[in-house]
Amino acid sequence: MQNFAVLASGRGGNLQAIINAVKSKKIKANLKVVVSDKADAFALKRAKKARIASIYVAPKDYTDRQSFDCKVLECLREYKIDFVVLAGYMRLLSAHFIRQYPNKIINIHPALLPSFKGINGIRDALEYGVKITGVSVHFVNEEMDAGTIIAQETVKITSKDTLKSLAQKIHKVEHKLYPEVIGWFAQKRLKVIGRKTVLR
Ligand code: GAR
Repeated sequence: MQNFAVLASGRGGNLQAIINAVKSKKIKANLKVVVSDKADAFALKRAKKARIASIYVAPKDYTDRQSFDCKVLECLREYKIDFVVLAGYMRLLSAHFIRQYPNKIINIHPALLPSFKGINGIRDALEYGVKITGVSVHFVNEEMDAGTIIAQETVKITSKDTLKSLAQKIHKVEHKLYPEVIGWFAQKRLKVIGRKTVLR
């Protein structure tokens, strides 16, 4: 079985869904370590509770993105990590990091890419007034939120939706879709052909 790491900065709702899916063997891979750039990330508490190694790397201890990423990479090497899952990780990865794991870093984004990239995907879609938004899971490349798309699911926006209600709908879809996609990846069912990912 392959080893993987989750990188998270916040609440860890997706991390929890992943932990549950590993436990129930929907994901057939070992979640070895959770790394965060935020000391108080609730994701670290979830990891500890599930007896998964958790590491905080303090950005202030590093002069630039690459040296910070080198420390994270060192942690990943220590745990013999084969692939990396970003779950609400609010830092851009350096090109150096991405080159260590080509097509082996997966991210989830709370909008239908290539629309509403960035850190406020849910709010930006709501404010723009689109009627349909959703969730995208994609491989990470050197451009922000621009890697090959693996899977997408739609979420309808009604006139009654608030940021809170829309976020709840998005998170519900995320917590189902992300473990499923990670499960496919772990079983080597994903093949990247140019801009497209094929599920075999
Ligand atoms: C999720 O909605 C995820 O899609 C989003 O952050 C949230 C993290 O929640 N990621 C991005 O916006 C990346 N650009 P969580 O910590 O509860 O999983």
